[in-house]
Amino acid sequence: MTAVLTKRKSTTKRTATTKKKRAKKSASSKANEKAKVYASLVVQLMSLLKGEHDFIANAANFSALLFNSLPNVNWAGFYFLHGDELVLGPFQGNPACVRIPMGKGVCGVAAQQLETIIVPNVHEFPGHIACDVASNAEIVVPLFDGERLLGVLDLDSPTIGRFDDQDAEGLNELVTVFVGHEQGLGR
Ligand code: SME
Repeated sequence: MTAVLTKRKSTTKRTATTKKKRAKKSASSKANEKAKVYASLVVQLMSLLKGEHDFIANAANFSALLFNSLPNVNWAGFYFLHGDELVLGPFQGNPACVRIPMGKGVCGVAAQQLETIIVPNVHEFPGHIACDVASNAEIVVPLFDGERLLGVLDLDSPTIGRFDDQDAEGLNELVTVFVGHEQGLGR
């Protein structure tokens, strides 16, 4: 009897350890997959920008690249700073609100705080501006020309918790490539 119990216990322990190992492996392979996607996006963005210096055309292609390459994204685009408000720029997705005052919504807060904001659940973000009812998660990345704020890159997802630090890192790298390409164009 004791032997049977001992055996059962160790089988349960082994199963739990195996499950943990599998979960860890799956998380790390997902992270590797994401890293590969962002590395590939950097190459594709550079190729799209090569030889072209029309800011609007490049921003439009950049948003299309993100929208069509990243899974579970229902809106990807820009808001640019005009005076003290953000104004809708090139994007992919449903029509969106055109003007966002500084400090309002996720975009306005990211622009005011000059930092990337990841919102796992937009319904829990005070003051979130709902442009698309399908959106449940959001990430907003500010764009800088040196110290100067140019605007923000905004991505929405229908999946709660869709964006993480890896997305923030990947998108910041892409935005740096984009702005670096546009620098010195007199904007
Ligand atoms: N949700 C954003 C508004 C822009 S749309 O998502 C495209 C916000 O709260 O700032």
